[in-house]
Amino acid sequence: MTAPVLIAQISDLHIKRPGELAYGQVDTAAALTRCIAHLNRFRPRPKLVVITGDLVDSGREEEYAHLRELLAPLELPMAAIPGNHDDRERFRRTFPSVASGSANCAIDVEGLRLLLLDSSVPGKDYGELNSDTLAWLESRLAEHPDRPALVFLHHAPFATGIAHMDRQNLRNAPDLAAIVRQHAQIRLIAAGHVHRAVTTLFAGAPAGICPAPNHAVDLDLGNERAPALRVEPPAFHLHAWLAGGRFGDLVTHLVPIGDFPGPYPFFDAKGELL
Ligand SMILES: [Fe+2]
Repeated sequence: MTAPVLIAQISDLHIKRPGELAYGQVDTAAALTRCIAHLNRFRPRPKLVVITGDLVDSGREEEYAHLRELLAPLELPMAAIPGNHDDRERFRRTFPSVASGSANCAIDVEGLRLLLLDSSVPGKDYGELNSDTLAWLESRLAEHPDRPALVFLHHAPFATGIAHMDRQNLRNAPDLAAIVRQHAQIRLIAAGHVHRAVTTLFAGAPAGICPAPNHAVDLDLGNERAPALRVEPPAFHLHAWLAGGRFGDLVTHLVPIGDFPGPYPFFDAKGELL
């Protein structure tokens, strides 16, 4: 069996100016540093790291400068899309591959097609895919209908049950759904924004949200508490594509960030269970 193609997804870094804590509580810079150390030592190495938005917390230039410093030790290729906390023009100076308009980006990795969509709307918390982005997505999918595709965007196109986040998800999800239904090669819709691992189906395709390296949105499914964060175990997603069949198989692993005991072998030298 050939080795799977590994694509790491990290999301919602919320980098502040040096020395500042997010919401007065969370050292997001230290959290990103731990995440990058984990990515650098992970084997086999992912082919690419996709960052699905909210790279900084307030869109400030000093935050992007801090972000660039913190990302410098990453030994893997990376690509990113903006979220609602980003400033599109400052974001673009950090990730200059996208020249103008919405920061969409197509990347082919060993037979996989990654389509990164800019769902940010300047000055708004909610997301929307504008008509240029929808047309761009349609064209990128149409030009390689036999290539398995992963679609990344910041705002989830589905509800999670967390009311204050669902009010700011992707507004025009039906427009995206109409495209997804017509392109069977889409293996995954991967979002961020909610700082939690979530899995569902969207327009017949597997879909999910990537957890964050720093803090989680409080899992309040009854709309009982004020919007809040909790510091939960940090993690990222590792999408593993196993070639084969018509579009191959894609599985997503949740990878907790940190140093954990092990690995301890299951078997001794004679092959007996320990
Ligand atoms: Fe967000």
